[in-house]
Amino acid sequence: MQTYPDKHPILTEDGSLTLYSSEYDQAYHSTQDGALTESLIKHVIPALRLQQGKTHLNILDINYGLGYNTLATLYYVRKHHLDTTVHILSPELDEALVRSLKDFDYPPEFDNLRPIVDAASKDLHYKDEQFTIDILIGDARKTIPKIPTSYFLLPTSKIDIVYQDAFSPNVNPLLWTREWFADIRALCAEDAILTTYSIAAATRMGLHENGFILYGYRPEGTRRSLIASLSPIKTGGLEGLEWIDMELKIKRNPQGRSLRDGEFV
Ligand SMILES: C[S@@+](CC[C@H](N)C(=O)[O-])C[C@H]1O[C@@H](n2cnc3c(N)ncnc32)[C@H](O)[C@@H]1O
Repeated sequence: MQTYPDKHPILTEDGSLTLYSSEYDQAYHSTQDGALTESLIKHVIPALRLQQGKTHLNILDINYGLGYNTLATLYYVRKHHLDTTVHILSPELDEALVRSLKDFDYPPEFDNLRPIVDAASKDLHYKDEQFTIDILIGDARKTIPKIPTSYFLLPTSKIDIVYQDAFSPNVNPLLWTREWFADIRALCAEDAILTTYSIAAATRMGLHENGFILYGYRPEGTRRSLIASLSPIKTGGLEGLEWIDMELKIKRNPQGRSLRDGEFV
C-alpha cells in the first residue's frame, strides 16, 4: 500500500480502510460507520433504490477521493444484477491520490473490480458494455460549470444521481455554498436524487434555496443523512425517509443561512 506525506490509513468500524487527511484534518469517511458501509448506506443504496427501473443512470460523484462511492455503485449494480447502464463522472483535485489507488487496499467486496480500479487510476477513464467512469482532475468549482449539456448522452443528457460527498462544510465550504448547489442543479434531471451525509442547517438551506425538496434518511440502526430531489419523492418507496418541512424550519429559525461564495473567496 502506498504511503503519503499528508495522509495516513485508518481502519474503520466495518473493517474497510480509509485515509486521514492532515491537510483537511479529517478522515475521508466516517470511521464510526465504516468506509464501505457509509458509501452503501448513505449514498448508493438509497439513490439506486429511488431510481430503480431506469435503464440508464448518469451519476455525479463529488468527489472521487478513494473511489468508494463509484466502486460501491458498480458492486451494488452487479450484486443485484441490475439491468441498467451507468455513466459516472467524478471530479477530483488530488491527481496523485487517484494515481496511487491501484495500490490501495480495498475491502474484499471490490476484489472483482480490480481491473476497473487499475484503469481508473491509470487512465482516469474506464468503459465496458455496462459502465463508464470519467475522473475529471481539477477544482470541481471550475470543471463542473463547464460540463456541456451534450456530455451525458443517454437518455436525457442530465444527471440522475449526485453523491455530495466532499470534506465537511467547515473545512471545504466552497463545495457546500448556495452557488455550488446552483451549478449542480443546472446539470440535474427534474427527478434527480442527491445524497449527502451533511445534515447541517446551512447545507439544507443551500439546497432548499435552489429548489430541492429535502428528506431526512435514517434506515434502521444508522445515523441520519440527507436526501434531496427537485421533484417530490414517495416516502413509502424507501424505508427511513422523512420529508423535512423547510418553511417550518425557517419560521422557527429565521437566522438560518446557506453558505455563500462571497464569504470564502
Ligand atoms: C471526503 S473525500 C471524498 C471521498 C470519496 N467520495 C470516496 O468515496 O472515497 C473529499 C475529496 O474531495 C477532494 N476535493 C477537495 N476539494 C476539491 C475541489 N475543489 N475539487 C475537486 N475535488 C476536491 C479531496 O481531494 C478529497 O479526495
